[in-house]
Amino acid sequence: MRLSFVEGWSGAFALIPLVGLALAGKAPESSSPSGASGGTSAFQLPPLPYRQEALEPYISARTMSFHYGKHHQTYVDNLNKLSAGTPWAGQPLEKIIRDTVGVADKAAVFNNAAQVWNHTFFWQSMKPGGGGQPTGRLRKLIEKSFGSFDEFQKTFVDTAVAQFGSGWAWLVQEGDSLKIVKTSNADTPVAHGQTALLTCDVWEHAYYLDYQNRRKDFVQAFLDHLANWEFAASQLK
Ligand SMILES: [Fe+2]
Repeated sequence: MRLSFVEGWSGAFALIPLVGLALAGKAPESSSPSGASGGTSAFQLPPLPYRQEALEPYISARTMSFHYGKHHQTYVDNLNKLSAGTPWAGQPLEKIIRDTVGVADKAAVFNNAAQVWNHTFFWQSMKPGGGGQPTGRLRKLIEKSFGSFDEFQKTFVDTAVAQFGSGWAWLVQEGDSLKIVKTSNADTPVAHGQTALLTCDVWEHAYYLDYQNRRKDFVQAFLDHLANWEFAASQLK
């Protein structure tokens, strides 16, 4: 699959499948630069790889308009404000995340940089008509690591539901094995030396308009109908 680099982004997930962009049609309204102070935009909200209504009925356009257009945009705006005039301005998100994790007086920088990264990765982790089952090397690694694809699904849902409060459920790679992990708030595998393959956002803002308190139904819909296994496979090392 041919990949293109999205300006202003770095890291593996910045490689956006051109097929996805072609399917997206017109750019989402909220894909404009975040407008950092001083007339420069070190960090920008990347375009969605699909239209905001493309994931319906599993994620509504209304949820996407808030989640992408408001929440994700706000993390970008905050990061631009926090990094303006500092060594973080214009740095790769992964570097900012790794340099600030666990540093008490840099918590705001970490939280916003990580949330920008996490959300961009989440959009890539889904596609219209997704779900189903992975193939090839990723399928073999899942079966080796979890016993079966069914067991992987069950563990992923259980882990996502077990995350207390806001956070994320992830499929990650560590060496030759895969793991399912959960992170709280903005925490991210990027900060822990793990290679992220797929993620589901389990902050309430990700599902409450569509599923209210039924987080399990949201995560199951993510796996059954939205998961982008081609993207996950493209992240394997
Ligand atoms: Fe979110």
